[in-house]
Amino acid sequence: MEKLVVCDHPLIQHKLTFIRDMRTNTKDFRELVDEVATLMAYEITRDIPLESITVQTPVAEAQAKVISGRMLGLIPILRAGLGMLDGVLKLLPAAKVGHVGLFRDPQTLQPVEYYIKLPTDVQERELIVIDPMLATGGSAIAAIDALKKRGCTQIKMMNLIAAPEGVKAVHAVHPDVDIYVAAMDERLDEHGYIIPGLGDAGDRLYGTK
Ligand code: PRP
Ligand code: URA
Repeated sequence: MEKLVVCDHPLIQHKLTFIRDMRTNTKDFRELVDEVATLMAYEITRDIPLESITVQTPVAEAQAKVISGRMLGLIPILRAGLGMLDGVLKLLPAAKVGHVGLFRDPQTLQPVEYYIKLPTDVQERELIVIDPMLATGGSAIAAIDALKKRGCTQIKMMNLIAAPEGVKAVHAVHPDVDIYVAAMDERLDEHGYIIPGLGDAGDRLYGTK
């Protein structure tokens, strides 16, 4: 069963409004994306299993919970995915990081792979693919294909904004991949941009145009 989670916490929604706003400058845009990524990491890790250990408090012995040695991997899609990476690492500092370099050909809208470097034990890890934008879904599908080709089986996807077309496309090919978004927008325009979206995430993060 395909799973789509809209992370509708008020703090996420508030910050996302200013991320969308075209008057937000590069520095503030980057900081807000980083903050929302941290908040989304809280949601996406909600089902991480716990185990009990014994600790000694100043007054008594207690049975208390810790995360049960889960092996995580974060996979930002270059370049815009890097804008969310540090925000997620704040909550998951021990996660290993793999990079998938893809850009979308502006004419065909097809993803072009130019770089891939993954942790050696990537197939044993629970992975979170990170990218601010899920538009046609082509980049997400290509990144997930690349991971599955290398034996990865536990994959989640984290996006700030998705178009319905992109979610449908990813779930048609990879129904096992749960998708977490901060917002589901209306549609794509004729250039494959999300409407209303936030514009070009990479350009806004890095001040390029
Ligand atoms: C953007 C975005 C996604 C992709 C989404 O990257 O960060 O990777 O487009 O579009 P899709 O769902 O239609 O594939 P872009 O290709 O602009 O590259 P960049 O991150 O290097 O700016
Ligand atoms: N990539 C972006 O950065 N923005 C969009 O709206 C679509 C793809």
